[in-house]
Amino acid sequence: MTVRSRVPSPPELGVAELPGPRITRPGGEPPRLAKFHVPEVVFGPGALAELGHCARRLGARRPFLVTDGGLTEARWAAEAVGHLEAVGLSAVVWDAVTPNPKDHEIEAAHRRYAESGADVIIGVGGGSVIDAAKGVAILSGNGGRILDYEGVDQVVHPIPPLVMAPSTSGTGADVSQFAIVTDTANATKITILSRALVPEISVVDPRLLTSMPDWLNAATGLDALTHAIESYVSRAHNTLTEQHSLHAATLITGNLARTLFRPAEAEPRIAMAQGALEAGMAFTNAILGATHAMSHQVGGLLDAPHGVINGVLLPHVIRFNAETDPARYVPLAAAIGIDTDGVPDVEVALTLAERVRELADVVGVPKTLRSLGVSDADIPVLTRNTLKDACLTTNPREARATDIARLFRAAL
Ligand SMILES: [Fe+2]
Repeated sequence: MTVRSRVPSPPELGVAELPGPRITRPGGEPPRLAKFHVPEVVFGPGALAELGHCARRLGARRPFLVTDGGLTEARWAAEAVGHLEAVGLSAVVWDAVTPNPKDHEIEAAHRRYAESGADVIIGVGGGSVIDAAKGVAILSGNGGRILDYEGVDQVVHPIPPLVMAPSTSGTGADVSQFAIVTDTANATKITILSRALVPEISVVDPRLLTSMPDWLNAATGLDALTHAIESYVSRAHNTLTEQHSLHAATLITGNLARTLFRPAEAEPRIAMAQGALEAGMAFTNAILGATHAMSHQVGGLLDAPHGVINGVLLPHVIRFNAETDPARYVPLAAAIGIDTDGVPDVEVALTLAERVRELADVVGVPKTLRSLGVSDADIPVLTRNTLKDACLTTNPREARATDIARLFRAAL
């Protein structure tokens, strides 16, 4: 005899009383179409040892390893080469990448890639290295000049397989569909945004984070926090991205200062590696906002660290967006430990902006764009270029030229 437990049917309970979390959006907004595209991720201390197997699985015979002088000095490039050799792969190494990778550097790297007959492209380094590696892949599959691919979905032909091992926490470039390239003739940065740029595999080994200088740790940590916050409030956020945004905000605000003041502790590094990864998984799908649209222009003008510029701009952009819709910032504030109970949404959002600024102070980021080298005379050009940046389209509040100029002046 079969015994069945009696489970009450929904009509008996009343659907509204059924236990479990709700996915209905605030204000009764229907669930929107959700897309979520991320690489295979190999995560944890020692993950770099998987690099050879990862390249092999993608069909590598002659991998092209993009890295930079800092990674070479820290011996991570040599360790990566060793892991490739262990599976019988002899890599072509290109380490002539500088911060904020330049159009001509990418084109030179591509010439070397093409003449060496390499196949799978591996990036071991920070966001600049990873973006340069993506640039080589774009040119290999599509030809032309790297600046031809500015904008959304301009990369239409297949590109070689990509494996990325990030050394900062982080830009999220190892999981994202973005590549940011400096247009040296116009002293600006272009954003290339294409699904094809999402790497096949991201190998996240928190050991690599230990050789970052403090300023880079601070800058990339604030960049990751900006990804978490902008992706959460983005017009393109969806139900599959938002939990990653919130968890990333929790991990980053709880651990960035610890990695700076107690650099030898493993746990905060692992937490930062995961925070940066989750922020990356969120923003590559939900895209970003005005902070990034503005920051790209300042970065192109000054060759200053991207995360530092974000740290200066983000509190201003939160306040600007919160003027029309502060409610969206409330779950973010709660995720970083701000008391939101019974507090008006607008106050919560302003407290969030303050907390971001306090964290920037703690990690040594200057308060103003002027201290980075921006002047009043730069604002018209910065504003014009911001309006063309793909990241502005997903900012939760529409921002016109007068708004952007006002934000630049407030941050000056
Ligand atoms: Fe960023």
